[in-house]
Amino acid sequence: MSNGAESLAYFVFDTEHNHDLLAVEELAQRCGYAVISLDEVANYSDAIKIIFDNGQWRIHLDNSSAIVSVDFSDPRFYTRVNSSALQGEYVVRAVLGRKKTTQPLTVLDATAGFGHDAFLLAAAGCQVTLVEQMPLLAYLLEQAVQRARNSTNNLLLSAAQRMIVESANSVMLMQQWSANRPDVVYLDPMYAHAENETKRGLKKSAAVKKNMAFLQRLTSHKAIDLSRAQAGHNQNCHDELNSEGEGMIEAALALAKRKVVVKRAPGAEWLGGLKPASSLTGKATRFDIYPLS
Ligand SMILES: C[S@@+](CC[C@H](N)C(=O)[O-])C[C@H]1O[C@@H](n2cnc3c(N)ncnc32)[C@H](O)[C@@H]1O
Repeated sequence: MSNGAESLAYFVFDTEHNHDLLAVEELAQRCGYAVISLDEVANYSDAIKIIFDNGQWRIHLDNSSAIVSVDFSDPRFYTRVNSSALQGEYVVRAVLGRKKTTQPLTVLDATAGFGHDAFLLAAAGCQVTLVEQMPLLAYLLEQAVQRARNSTNNLLLSAAQRMIVESANSVMLMQQWSANRPDVVYLDPMYAHAENETKRGLKKSAAVKKNMAFLQRLTSHKAIDLSRAQAGHNQNCHDELNSEGEGMIEAALALAKRKVVVKRAPGAEWLGGLKPASSLTGKATRFDIYPLS
């Protein structure tokens, strides 16, 4: 099934759960990875495996139990949405601000990741467009939004109805934007400081650590792809991944109607060196606010 070429991640074709090999191959190709069969898994112990189980594709980081998925109904995340504390979430406070609006705010989440912040914003009433540059993550987000839309749980369903996922590089997308401008652009580029944060004693949950480890693994792999491509070794590299938010804040400031909100680690430098008008600082995160009107 795999053509022998090395891939960072493999979709696992398992006849019990997947009936259509062609569909799995198409999906794998769309995400830039290869396909292996279930009985080949043991030969790929160091690779990331993407396995379908219990109605969704999940990412197995290695042969341990470290599994990453996008699932808004996961109780560890859902309690944040379901609680009265939603309005107290820093991301909600930073994006909504104090001004009352009659129309729901339109938000472009230009670094969607696992969609958690976007989902909190949608649950708080915003119309959110999620843009994610990693095709695999964008696909898992689309699937998670679709599952939530089919849910019998009204809270999940109504939030998901306010979410649209796009698989793209958001800097390019913002620079070429031709639709209605969003009220708010929200940015949470992957900070290079994740390890330093842990060293500085900033606590992250096990799930957040796993998600970050997965993102860092994919990003560093793609950075290697890119440097090889630049040296002329790999013509089939993926689109450039921009993990440091280069050019992002400028594009966001040019596009947003009301404000740009940037999530950073407390103590991290301002994105693009641009000083915000104000910041909301919590234990593990800081939200820098750039008002435009
Ligand atoms: C720290 S994560 C975001 C986590 C997200 N706020 C959440 O709540 O799950 C950063 C994400 O931004 C994505 N990203 C970084 N630069 C991007 C770009 N230029 N366009 C689209 N996505 C980008 C990365 O691939 C990564 O998935």
